[in-house]
Amino acid sequence: MCGIVGYIGKRNATPIIIEGIKRLEYRGYDSSGIAILNEENELKIFKESGKIIELERALPSPDQTFGNVGIAHTRWATHGEPNKLNAHPHTGCDGSIAVVHNGIIENYINLRNKLESEGHEFISNTDTEVLAHLIEHFLKIENDLTTAVQDALKLVEGTYGIAVISNDSPGKIVAARKGSPLILGIGEDEFFVTSDVAAIIIHTKKVIYLEDNEVVSLSYDDYQITNLQNENIEADISIVDWDVSSIDKGEYKHFMLKEIFEQPTSIYNAFRGRLNDRLSTVKLGGLNMKSEELRKIKMLQIIACGTSWHAALIGKHIIEGLARIPVEVEYASEYRYRNPIIPDDTIVFAISQSGETADTLAGLREAQAKGAKVLGITNTIGSTISRESDGGVYIHAGAEIGVASTKAFTSQVTILTILAVLLGRMKDLQPTFGKSFIKELAAIPEKVELILQKNDEIRKIAETLKDSTNALYLGRGVNYPVALEGALKLKEISYIHAEGYPAAEMKHGPIALIDENMPVIAIAPDDAIYDKIISNLEEVKARNGRIISIATEGDEKIEQLSESVIYIPKTIRTLQPLLTVIPLQLLAYHVADLRGLDVDQPRNLAKSVTVE
Ligand code: G6P
Repeated sequence: MCGIVGYIGKRNATPIIIEGIKRLEYRGYDSSGIAILNEENELKIFKESGKIIELERALPSPDQTFGNVGIAHTRWATHGEPNKLNAHPHTGCDGSIAVVHNGIIENYINLRNKLESEGHEFISNTDTEVLAHLIEHFLKIENDLTTAVQDALKLVEGTYGIAVISNDSPGKIVAARKGSPLILGIGEDEFFVTSDVAAIIIHTKKVIYLEDNEVVSLSYDDYQITNLQNENIEADISIVDWDVSSIDKGEYKHFMLKEIFEQPTSIYNAFRGRLNDRLSTVKLGGLNMKSEELRKIKMLQIIACGTSWHAALIGKHIIEGLARIPVEVEYASEYRYRNPIIPDDTIVFAISQSGETADTLAGLREAQAKGAKVLGITNTIGSTISRESDGGVYIHAGAEIGVASTKAFTSQVTILTILAVLLGRMKDLQPTFGKSFIKELAAIPEKVELILQKNDEIRKIAETLKDSTNALYLGRGVNYPVALEGALKLKEISYIHAEGYPAAEMKHGPIALIDENMPVIAIAPDDAIYDKIISNLEEVKARNGRIISIATEGDEKIEQLSESVIYIPKTIRTLQPLLTVIPLQLLAYHVADLRGLDVDQPRNLAKSVTVE
């Protein structure tokens, strides 16, 4: 989704903010633009549709884009086509103001009508342009950019992260947020503002995460944070704890591939320091809950979107199995508007890699409004969901850049699995199970490594899938959500239509689609329902369907049914999803790569969906 980067300091802003928005390309965008205040105090604006490279090509010589103050934007269209006119920055009537904006101004039509009646002329189809005219209106009255922004935002309904510059206020950037992330970066004699730390981490790790309704004014040597009423706010400085290398592809062709290969480490980091071998249990201090409180839980509700929702479905299976606590899993977008019933002693979990997904955040707020305790499972320290939840767990997967989530998924599943053991051990789960679970979990990173060594073999299988138009993923029990995730991975990045189904449900519909052109990817590890899934595969085979199986090492029976088999090491049923999903991620990756597609930035998708 949209990205913002701003710079004020002694250096030339242009290369810094262009490099910054390039670091945000992974979030998904369709156009980009910059505004620079140069030494003659002229405001220069450049924008283009398409990739940032198009913007760079359109820039004049460096001396014409030199300036110490600049803002940049990548746009993911919500209101108005993704063309040059609608790209940010937007200006008012006299071109003295430049505004970049993430989020949606919900009352923009009313504001636009009012401004037009006062003589303002609009040129774009965006909601953002009203902000530029509104700030321009107040700047003429107040003659101070901070005050003008504060006054304009008092009239705005909706969500925003904005950055504004004006040649009527040289040497200044004003930025503000409500419901859309915004971060102040503090460098040596320079400041940054961004919607995502990835854009500025090569310059500084010292940041302030702005809160809703806060406005920050940056000058060359200072910053000041206020609210819309201009009252000063003291904010804590945080140090970003991840490394520049995590936003570099290294030896890999794509971030997605790098992130798939990082999973032995990222899974380990999710459980590191959280296992209690002596008591055969788990500790999750961030939940902020005493043992007595945990024992009292009667129900869990988990809200999430996309891949995080699939992790939640796996969590339901495992938590219900080990802790015998009922778990409801719901898309956050449905939960937020459904007036959900939250019984007493229910804990709500919000799962979000980014910690910024608008629907998940709204679901969290709705649950809190009903008096429920909400815990977050997030990857991004300082994100809105992690700050607004009443406690939670960081998955510590490191920066995930590929739009298709991989390592965050396995880390979320790891956390939900250890949560299940924690809650289970408070009840009837035997210490012997706890002990063997800890041993098995500790062996998972090595087993993932063994599957990754099959990368070349999986690419060959991908060759046989790359021209398909459809694919069906089948799994049962805890591997049914893995089938959903495998299908999602394939459709997201290869644009092949794919569906995940509980294997037995196939005969109630999808079986009608089976013929020699329909690849069926079957997740069939050695477990209590193995024979059942084999019967389902016989039904596919009888209709000439092509079967690619994910099976446990040593299973020769499945070879007779399958065109190809990808073997995974044996583990306990609870931990199987951490292994079965790995070949599916690699398969999707290779199919998309063989089709020559932009794996890390698939069309129309965004890494972090900060609008409804
Ligand atoms: C987008 C991303 C998905 C992600 C989903 C939820 O759709 O493309 O990869 O699973 O958002 O994101 P979250 O950050 O809340 O986990």
